[in-house]
Amino acid sequence: MPLLAIETTCDETAAAVVSRSREVLSSVVASQEQIHARWHGVVPEVASRAHVERIVPVIDEAIERSGVGRRDLEAVAVAVRPGLVGSLLVGMSAAKMIAVAFDRPLIGYDHIAAHLYACRLADPHRMRYPCVGLVASGGHTSLLHVTSPLTMERLGGTIDDAIGEAFDKASSLLGLGYPGGPAIERAALEGNPQAFRFPRPLARDRTTLDMSFSGLKTALRYQVRPPGAAADTPPPVGARLHDLAASFQQAAVDTVVAKVRLAVEQTGCDLLAVGGGVTANSLLRASLAAYAAKAGIDLLLPPPELCTDNAAMGAIAWERIERGERDPLDLEVVPGLIRGSR
Ligand code: KG4
Ligand code: ZN
Repeated sequence: MPLLAIETTCDETAAAVVSRSREVLSSVVASQEQIHARWHGVVPEVASRAHVERIVPVIDEAIERSGVGRRDLEAVAVAVRPGLVGSLLVGMSAAKMIAVAFDRPLIGYDHIAAHLYACRLADPHRMRYPCVGLVASGGHTSLLHVTSPLTMERLGGTIDDAIGEAFDKASSLLGLGYPGGPAIERAALEGNPQAFRFPRPLARDRTTLDMSFSGLKTALRYQVRPPGAAADTPPPVGARLHDLAASFQQAAVDTVVAKVRLAVEQTGCDLLAVGGGVTANSLLRASLAAYAAKAGIDLLLPPPELCTDNAAMGAIAWERIERGERDPLDLEVVPGLIRGSR
């Protein structure tokens, strides 16, 4: 019998039904993009209220589309960490309610591990361990040494802004709106990525797998509005806008690829598995593919809809069920990242 997975870590309300053989029978994602667009980023309280409104219809739709009866669900899986506390609590409460009402086991899972598990869903035969994992999203930028679906050690990652957060802020500075990643990617299409030489902090430092994106964001800010310029300076337009977007995107992608290369060298792994919303970015995908081909390693790049937040990746809960694990009904959410795991 399949399981129901629920995902509400940030601003997507998602539910999916996944069989034991990891077949995704349905996957429903209700995005809150339009709600948060006027604030150019996710507002936590607004996000939790929107989850409350959507969670029941989203779960109903996932079950209905899967063709599986409510009583034929074997377990309820839910993302317990990391994320926004109010958002996580909505998914957790819904999962507990269903677990109690239908007397089914409750299984919590880690959102970061689930992003990498999307590679297993996308390509079950090529996913193997150990491998290097890259999770690049709105909340995280982490390089991991992954030894099994559930075990991984953090090798490095951002020391300040997450890469997706940098895209979102850059987009806002350029007057392109939220979410920033897709908007920057579109604007960059017609731009020259060499027009502005933006900083790539730490990218050349071979002693660390850490990265930094806040200096890049500040450099863009100074191009858009130099120090001392009026607060109402209009955002750039035309070729300048496209060049700024393309140069920003290139610097962010170069930074990540440099550290991915170092992580692969240091671990000796021959597989790179990636996940998270930013890995939907075409330049990042093409750059990782070019690097992997040159280095002679395998690359697993899930399709974009499995990169951004979704509940299908909650299929990772099967790994715990198969180990005989389940969680108590007083399972708690863990909003913060484990120290140093950003
Ligand atoms: O994984 P995700 O859906 O949610 C989090 O766990 O954070 O990632 C969302 C982030 C946002 O910052 C969004 O701007 C970014 O992923 N993103 C992209 C693209 N699509 C989404 N960034 C760059 N290029 C894209 N095409
Ligand atoms: Zn995510």
